[in-house]
Amino acid sequence: MLKFLHILLTGLLGVLWDGVTAFGGVRLVDGESKCSGRVEVLLHNQWGTVCNHGWDPRDANVVCLELGCGLAEFTPPGAVYGEGSGPIWLRHVQCLGHESSLTRCAVALHNNVYCTHENDAVVKCSGTLLMPTLTLLSPHTVFSPGEAVRFSCSILQGHLSDFHLYKHGVSTPLVTQRADQTQKKAELTLSDIETFHQGSYSCQYRIKSGFPSQLLSSPPSNSINITVVELLTPQHWYNTSTEAPAGSVIKGHNFNITCSTPQQYPGGSFQLRLIRSNGTVRQSLPALTPSVTFTFPNAQSSNEGYYYCLYRVQLGGRTFVSRESQPLPIAIRDPDPVLSPMGISWLVSGLTFVVAVVVLIIVAKVWTTLMLPYQLTSYDGVCRQQITKAESRVSGQSEGSHSIHRGFRRQNAEPNSLVRHPAHLRRS
Ligand SMILES: *[C@@H]1O[C@H](CO)[C@@H](O)[C@H](O)[C@H]1NC(C)=O
Ligand SMILES: *[C@@H]1O[C@H](CO)[C@@H](O)[C@H](O)[C@H]1NC(C)=O
Ligand SMILES: *[C@@H]1O[C@H](CO)[C@@H](O)[C@H](O)[C@H]1NC(C)=O
Ligand SMILES: *[C@@H]1O[C@H](CO)[C@@H](O)[C@H](O)[C@H]1NC(C)=O
Repeated sequence: MLKFLHILLTGLLGVLWDGVTAFGGVRLVDGESKCSGRVEVLLHNQWGTVCNHGWDPRDANVVCLELGCGLAEFTPPGAVYGEGSGPIWLRHVQCLGHESSLTRCAVALHNNVYCTHENDAVVKCSGTLLMPTLTLLSPHTVFSPGEAVRFSCSILQGHLSDFHLYKHGVSTPLVTQRADQTQKKAELTLSDIETFHQGSYSCQYRIKSGFPSQLLSSPPSNSINITVVELLTPQHWYNTSTEAPAGSVIKGHNFNITCSTPQQYPGGSFQLRLIRSNGTVRQSLPALTPSVTFTFPNAQSSNEGYYYCLYRVQLGGRTFVSRESQPLPIAIRDPDPVLSPMGISWLVSGLTFVVAVVVLIIVAKVWTTLMLPYQLTSYDGVCRQQITKAESRVSGQSEGSHSIHRGFRRQNAEPNSLVRHPAHLRRS
C-alpha cells in the first residue's frame, strides 16, 4: 500500500516534471546495433545517461518499443557497453510498461542515490520481435467439415496488441484476437471449418511500438498442418443376369453390387450393409480403387433385403465414416417355371399328352368316316327293302300307311318274320 502510494506520487510528480521539461528522445549507443547499447536521453539539447538503480525489464521494454526494436531480450548488469559521459539525466526510473516513451515513466524522487557512469543503464533488444509458438489445443490434426480447430499462440513476453492466425498462402489473417498488455498467449479458434481450411497454419502477434507509436508485427511462428476430410456419400448399383426383372435377382444366379466414391483416401474401405427382415449383415472390402464390387455367386433368399453402402477411413488416429447411400432393394425371385428344367419336363410331358390325345382323336375320326357310310347304307337298304316289301304285301289290303304300321308291328310281333324275309327275297 505504501509502495503503491509512493509510485502514485512519484508518477504524478513525474508527469508534472515531464510536462515542464523538454526531453528530446532516447537512443542506444556503443552497442552492436541501434537496438542495443547504453541508454541515453536528450534534455536541453544534451545527451545524458540513465542510472541503473531500479532498472528492470519493464523499463528496458519501454526503451526497445520506443525505438521500434522489438522487446528487451535482457538487461545486462553494469556498463557492459562502456561508461558514458556528461550528465546523468534520469535516476531510478519506474516504468509500468505501457508508456510510449522512457521519458514518460515515473521517476523516484530520492535523488540522493549515489550514481556514477559505472551505473549507466544498458539494454539489449530483440531487434525484431520474438517468434511466437503455435500449438494445437485440439487433440488431433485431422478434422471433418463443420468441426472447430483450436490453436494457442504464445510468446514469452507481454506488451502485445493482438494475435493473428494465418493460413499459408492467404495474406489476411483468418482469426484475430485482441490482447491486453499482460497477455502472453491467446486461443485462436477456427470454427465451422470447410475443406478449403486444410493447410498449414502459423500465428503472429503485433505490438504497439515506436514514438509516435506504430504496430510492429512479429515473425511468424512454427507451422502446423491440419487436414480436413470430407467423405461424400458413395453410390452403389447392382448387376445380374439380364433376364431378371428390375429390382430382382433370380435365385441361383450370380449378382454383383458395386460401391463407388468420388473421393479416395489411403486406407479407405467400403462397407456393404444388408438389412433383411430378420437382421443386418455387414461386409467390407478395401477401397483400393474408387469402385469396388461385392460378388454374390449364388443368390439365395437370405440375400434379399435393402443394401446400403458407406465409405470409411482411418486418418490421424480418427475414424471417418461417410453417410450411407440410398437403400438399394433387391428381391430374390424363383426362376421362371417355363425356363427351369422341371418346367421344361412338365412342358414336354404336357405336350406329349396333348399330342397323344390329338392323334387318338384324329385316328378315331378317320376310322369312323371310313366305316360309317357303309354301315349306314347297308342297314338303310335292308330297311328300305323291308318297307317296300311290306308295302307291296299290304297294298292289296287297300289301307296305305296304316297297314305299313301294322305290317311293322306284325313283323315286330313275330320274331321270325325277319328270318322269313330271306325266304321272301329268295322267292322274289
Ligand atoms: C505441412 O504440409 C506441407 C505441404 O502441404 C509440407 O511441406 C510440410 O512439411 C508439412 N509440415 C508439417 C509440420 O507436417
Ligand atoms: C451394371 O449396372 C449398371 C447400372 O444398372 C450399368 O450402368 C452397367 O452397365 C452394368 N454393368 C454391366 C457390366 O452390366
Ligand atoms: C460379377 O462379378 C464377377 C467377378 O468379377 C463376374 O465374373 C460376373 O460376370 C459378374 N456378374 C455380373 C452379373 O455382372
Ligand atoms: C435370417 O434368414 C436367413 C434366411 O432367410 C437365414 O439364412 C439366416 O440365418 C437368418 N438369420 C438370423 C440371424 O436368423
